[in-house]
Amino acid sequence: MRADEKKLGEYYANPPEDISLANVDLGRIPRHVSIIMDGNGRWAQARGLDRSEGHVAGVDSLREAVTTSVRLGLDVLSVYAFSTENWCRPQHEVNLLMHLFATTLLNELPLFHQENVRLRFFGDIDALPTETAEAFHEGLRETADHTGMTFALAVNYGSRAEIARAAREVAQDVALGTLRSEDIDEKAISSRLYTADLPDPELLIRTSGEMRLSNYLLWQLAYTEFYVTPVMWPDFSRWDFLRAVRAFQGRHRRFGGVVEH
Ligand code: IPE
Ligand code: IPE
Ligand code: MG
Repeated sequence: MRADEKKLGEYYANPPEDISLANVDLGRIPRHVSIIMDGNGRWAQARGLDRSEGHVAGVDSLREAVTTSVRLGLDVLSVYAFSTENWCRPQHEVNLLMHLFATTLLNELPLFHQENVRLRFFGDIDALPTETAEAFHEGLRETADHTGMTFALAVNYGSRAEIARAAREVAQDVALGTLRSEDIDEKAISSRLYTADLPDPELLIRTSGEMRLSNYLLWQLAYTEFYVTPVMWPDFSRWDFLRAVRAFQGRHRRFGGVVEH
């Protein structure tokens, strides 16, 4: 998809000093950007608020990230919202997040309709509390016919669990005789991941300064460019998104080859 430049110019009016739309090449926008949305709790604590206030504020950043991605013409935006390890958080925080996911998703359906965004999930969403699972399935049904950007939410997602699940499916297919063990190749694994049919992320953004993957897309990020910003997720804006894209465009991607000068 190509960005609508006039609309984008209005969206990116009044730039801060260090970044503007002129700093990025609209012909080289990454097709798939993935974000580890981190720092909600610290953002809230720094303001003397409850951690939950950080999660609520983070919803506004996510809405802006979706809108920005549509405007920039991405094919896929994926975001890490809840890991398989996040279940070990205090029960009230888990409950709040699950309720927030359900209500937010339903509230944002008009935006997905307006922007022709198609929803998708990474992770086992049927193991979520009923309210959340039902809202997610409604979102899938409501956006199934949309043909614009794919927006993928990783919820109850863990990359090791995802790879183990793919291995289990491969083993079952071999046992059934529909797959020969000598035909197990990278495609046999990647086509059984939640990301099947999606391009690998070209750019991974992590907020709040942490330099780790936290069990996110270990397979898919093999050659992805990383951009870590100290900005906490609730403060992440369309300008931070543009800064990340500019950084990406300054990288030399080699995929194991040699640098071209
Ligand atoms: C990210 O913010 C949101 C989720 C993991 C659900 P955190 O809740 O991890 O915030 P910090 O990292 O503790 O500040
Ligand atoms: C990663 O953040 C998971 C999500 C953003 C959903 P965490 O805050 O859970 O990661 P760690 O514990 O700092 O590695
Ligand atoms: Mg965190």
